[in-house]
Amino acid sequence: MSKNISEVIMERRSIKQVDETPIERAVINDILEKSAFAPFHSKIEPWHVAVLSTEAEKRRFVEAIVNSMERMQGEPLTHERREQIRAGNERKIVAPPYTLIVTTDIIGSGKKDFEAIAATSALIQNIQLLAWEVGLGVLWRTNNFIFDPDVVTELGLDGQQIVGCLQITRVNEIPDAKPRRAMNEWVKNLGE
Ligand SMILES: Cc1cc2nc3c(=O)[nH]c(=O)nc-3n(C[C@H](O)[C@H](O)[C@H](O)COP(=O)(O)O)c2cc1C
Repeated sequence: MSKNISEVIMERRSIKQVDETPIERAVINDILEKSAFAPFHSKIEPWHVAVLSTEAEKRRFVEAIVNSMERMQGEPLTHERREQIRAGNERKIVAPPYTLIVTTDIIGSGKKDFEAIAATSALIQNIQLLAWEVGLGVLWRTNNFIFDPDVVTELGLDGQQIVGCLQITRVNEIPDAKPRRAMNEWVKNLGE
């Protein structure tokens, strides 16, 4: 029997552990199609998703990250350091059956850009919940390189801001829930 929305929301976990078993592209497409029913405040949905499924696509992303880290360091990385960064990111980006780069249009207007990032975050949560519903786990990552405009250029995503890099894998082990604050710690009546 399928789970109701409360169960999916409360049972979903971020899944770090990668299972390399392939996942049918049709399953990913179905999740993406449904996720677009996220709310948005503009005439055009602001989000874009780059799907990385082949090794070549994923390695291209890893190279963009390595180059970004070199720029951040301000001097050429040693061969050893390059390989180290590559290896770390291969585990996170190449190993999962899918890595999604979720971006949003950025036009340079504070209110519109805020709304675009908010709407795209809603899309990402829809992706996480829809994936969970069909037994898939997502990890939403926001590393420093997402703020490097040269990374988006290198990936052919000019004019966009990365909101999340999502790894998608099957779920083998469900981690314990991260405890949440008691509601009375973060909810108050305005008059209090
Ligand atoms: C905006 C955002 C950015 C995140 N970035 C990272 C990240 O860079 N690396 C990571 O391991 N997890 C990241 N996460 C996942 C959180 O660590 C995770 O959601 C949190 O620990 C709660 O666990 P849960 O998702 O299993 O409930 C991010 C989550 C959000 C919402």
